[in-house]
Amino acid sequence: MKSWDVIVLGAGAAGLMCAIEAAKRGRRVLVLDHAKRLGGKILMSGGGRCNFTNYYIEPTAYLCQNPHFVKSALARYSQWDFIGLVEKHGIPYHEKTLGQLFCDNTAQDIIDMLLKESKAAGVTIKSRVAITKVECLADDEINDGFSVNSSGETYHCQALVVATGGLSMPKLGATPFGYQLAEQFGLEVLPTRAGLVPFTLQPEDKATLEPLAGVSLPVVASSVDGTRFSENLLFTHRGLSGPAVLQISSYWQAGEAIHFELLPAGALAQGINEHPNQELKTWLTHQLPKRLVEALFLRTEWQQANIANKPLKQYVPKEIAAIEAIISAWAIKPGGTEGYRTAEVTLGGVNTDELSSKTMMAKRVPNLYFIGEVMDVTGWLGGYNFQWAWSSGWCAGQVV
Ligand code: FDA
Repeated sequence: MKSWDVIVLGAGAAGLMCAIEAAKRGRRVLVLDHAKRLGGKILMSGGGRCNFTNYYIEPTAYLCQNPHFVKSALARYSQWDFIGLVEKHGIPYHEKTLGQLFCDNTAQDIIDMLLKESKAAGVTIKSRVAITKVECLADDEINDGFSVNSSGETYHCQALVVATGGLSMPKLGATPFGYQLAEQFGLEVLPTRAGLVPFTLQPEDKATLEPLAGVSLPVVASSVDGTRFSENLLFTHRGLSGPAVLQISSYWQAGEAIHFELLPAGALAQGINEHPNQELKTWLTHQLPKRLVEALFLRTEWQQANIANKPLKQYVPKEIAAIEAIISAWAIKPGGTEGYRTAEVTLGGVNTDELSSKTMMAKRVPNLYFIGEVMDVTGWLGGYNFQWAWSSGWCAGQVV
């Protein structure tokens, strides 16, 4: 049996950050991962440029059953700490939009940085290894560490950190291993579902919306619980995507409608004042993509409202209200989501009530830690999820 102070399962963003911090404290750290290539998700992230954090990280940008849980870790290792690390390595970066920070070159810069830090701190990383069995070594009911069976070897460690991520993108190595391990140790795992994911269409919407593939426009997307995102909506061959849709998908439950504000309330009233003789369709085509306007006129909600195309000044208040209801709160009931195949994140996971918000250690299993996406913590699109991986990994790294 080979003995280590700390074994980290998963060499993703959270696992490597934790390993680096623990090794910097003089701990002997082994990281195990089954992936052929380290940092696969980081490499794919941000369209290949890794949106590694955000200037505006705040706890309200995270979905978690206990919304207070994330506060401590995000404050102790903030976006400014990670930006400091990126700058220490001379990695050029830029703000794209809404505080989102991307590498100027490629995401490989972030992987190289993490591997360089790991090497300098003395972390041992083994990739392409299968983890077959994990057991708690109890001596007279006292937790005496863990044993980990991996590719024919048995390792022993005092502290075990689970950083195996969520279920998104199985082709990049995602597995339910972390959830199974939590359950093995009696910890509650909250139901999981795909987040930051495109919507598919109901059969009745396909005829009018599929031909819009490629059309993109700024909207405000809102969910039934009142959450709103002002970003772009993109129509695709498969359904609805774009940042507004990815963001709101994390707040969507099956069967609910999403409302899209295509034009702000009051826009039509202003149009009537400014262009009383312009026909509705012409006016709309000046405000929205032409293909979308044509599709709107074909849709059932438009036909049910019985709105004819005529000069704006001829509309009576009842018709104006009906038009506004469509253009300022256009309701679409998605058929579903594209699921884990294309989702950026997994909602749900290890219940944070089971964990210390300061150290990420399981309250009922001493020396067992969960960090990163395997936990029930999911951030918005825009660098929030990597920041959670850095922050939670850093916190565990101070104590393991
Ligand atoms: P992560 O998934 O990174 O790492 C888990 C590791 O565990 C992997 O290396 C995996 O191989 C390993 N593993 C899993 N099961 C195992 C098993 N059974 N045995 C051994 N090893 C196992 N976020 C963001 O903030 N900005 C962005 O730009 C993007 N972009 C983005 C694009 C795409 C395509 C995806 C899928 C996701 C993003 N994200 C993102 C989300 C972000 O990638 C994610 O939240 C973090 O990578 C989570 O870090 P973790 O370390 O927790 O898990």
